[in-house]
Amino acid sequence: MTDEHPGAGAGADAPEPFGRRSVSRKTLLKAALIAVPMPALLGSGVALARDHRPSDPPLTPTPYCDDGDDPTPPQTEGPYFKPDSPERASLLEPGTRGTRLTISGYVFGLTCRPVAHALLDFWQADTAGAYDNTGFRLRGHQYTDARGAFMLTTIVPGLYPSRTRHIHVKVQAPGGPILTTQLYFPGEPRNNTDPIFNPALLMNVRQAGPAKQATFDFVIGGS
Ligand SMILES: [Fe+2]
Repeated sequence: MTDEHPGAGAGADAPEPFGRRSVSRKTLLKAALIAVPMPALLGSGVALARDHRPSDPPLTPTPYCDDGDDPTPPQTEGPYFKPDSPERASLLEPGTRGTRLTISGYVFGLTCRPVAHALLDFWQADTAGAYDNTGFRLRGHQYTDARGAFMLTTIVPGLYPSRTRHIHVKVQAPGGPILTTQLYFPGEPRNNTDPIFNPALLMNVRQAGPAKQATFDFVIGGS
């Protein structure tokens, strides 16, 4: 599991360079955000990064809202995007096969403020690795709530030739530029061979009974 935590084991007890521990305005903003209870999400049992237990391995250092404020890296759209997907937070339909998966997280702006009403448009392969190019199966868009939070209910996508396991997404702040990128699963053998794979786009994924619960936060410009 170490591959899903690049940077982990860097020595949590080692002294950090001066300045790394200084509490920035951004840190305070994020701390305040995370301190806000979210009964709706918590009630649904979705794993969020703040649910992290002390006994768990260290979380992946987020590539966003840290000292660098790096935006979420873009990725190729690929050949299977279709505009005009239905608005829905769950891509599950009667008869949808595959391991259930929830992905929850936040959309932040470059200043680490959550982005309300940001658009997230997801599309993915089915459990057999096929995209629906005639209809909108396993395609859907939704908007972040007032706290910048989103939650997608779907299935774990199947593999198809030449690619590792991934989910496509477009993210856009109101009136902002569109970020097109992909989300990845830790521990996938093909992560080592897929030339498109970027570890900065790994989700935190945990097993929850027969289902998987993932978290990922985006950082986008234009907000
Ligand atoms: Fe794809």
